[in-house]
Amino acid sequence: MNTYRTLQWDDSTNTLVLLDQRSLPHRIQYVICKDEQQTAEAIRKMVVRGAPAIGAAAAFGLALAAFRCNCQTTEEFLRHIENAAQQLTAARPTAVNLQWALKRIIRKVAEAEGTIEELRRLVLDEARRITDEDVRINQQIGLNALQILPEEINFIHHCNTGALATVDYGTALGIIRTAHEHGRKVFVFVDETRPRLQGAKLTAWELQQLGIPFKVIVDGASGFVMKRFRIDAVVVGCDRVAANGDTANKIGTYNLALAAKAHGVPFYVACPTSTIDLSIANGDLIPIEERDSEEITHLEGKAICPRGTDVFNPAFDVTVAELITAIITENGVCYPPFERSLRGVVHP
Ligand code: MRU
Repeated sequence: MNTYRTLQWDDSTNTLVLLDQRSLPHRIQYVICKDEQQTAEAIRKMVVRGAPAIGAAAAFGLALAAFRCNCQTTEEFLRHIENAAQQLTAARPTAVNLQWALKRIIRKVAEAEGTIEELRRLVLDEARRITDEDVRINQQIGLNALQILPEEINFIHHCNTGALATVDYGTALGIIRTAHEHGRKVFVFVDETRPRLQGAKLTAWELQQLGIPFKVIVDGASGFVMKRFRIDAVVVGCDRVAANGDTANKIGTYNLALAAKAHGVPFYVACPTSTIDLSIANGDLIPIEERDSEEITHLEGKAICPRGTDVFNPAFDVTVAELITAIITENGVCYPPFERSLRGVVHP
């Protein structure tokens, strides 16, 4: 497992400690959250990012709300944490893991009986359970992927889906890691992932620590790389999968899937089943977060576009199901038609 943990609960102070991903790979620093507002802010500002990681962070944000309330009755306590859940949910709209984690905890509390102190403990215990499960789930996704991957694999990977995007180990990057740990010959072309460079900064950092060979490429190079080299698989993570298999992931994923289709390269999506949202029929209904224009007009705080330049900055796009070879989850590998196969892996 990793030396640096994405997030940790500090029992001595009842606070949430987040590894500040904005300053990686060159500086290791932490942000301490003492309440749900600070946690929501840290998620919004991407101190912590990646769908499973923000789900786990939000779960601990709810525990902070539970510990900081002076509620007198259990009804008041439930209302208090429901309000906190609303604030946390609003922090980032696309990744469904955030809502999934919060709803799971609220349901547990609503069904439970006990004193406020017992309910507080229940919120924290459930947040801990979500984080522990995440690591096991990621390892299982990796093992399931081994069944369908060849002995020698040249990958293209987009964004960051590793230990930093999860509690530990990673989803799509977890697949690469499992293949490497099982002695497969692995090489990774790492999309830099404009505009926030999660690939160039975070994925490159993780692969370097794992001793997995890689080269960073600019996002626009992936088509050329597929034409020039033997690419065996594109692997990406995701923020939400609709019931028909349409998948929201980091901006640029759709282009990558189109290029993969044109070159006959298998395109794999990796995710825990908590990222599958069967309540949404197709990708057009997935809310897509738009972020600050400075992410595009500036590089490391320095303006690169003419002053007053207008931009469109969706943080995610939707890859249509027709372009996806398989969706790899902890409960099995789903093939088209996804309407049926996804239902088979999501257990209520
Ligand atoms: O904006 P980010 O960095 O939170 O986006 C992350 C991604 O798009 C990941 O690919 C996705 O969350 C899956 S992480 C296992």
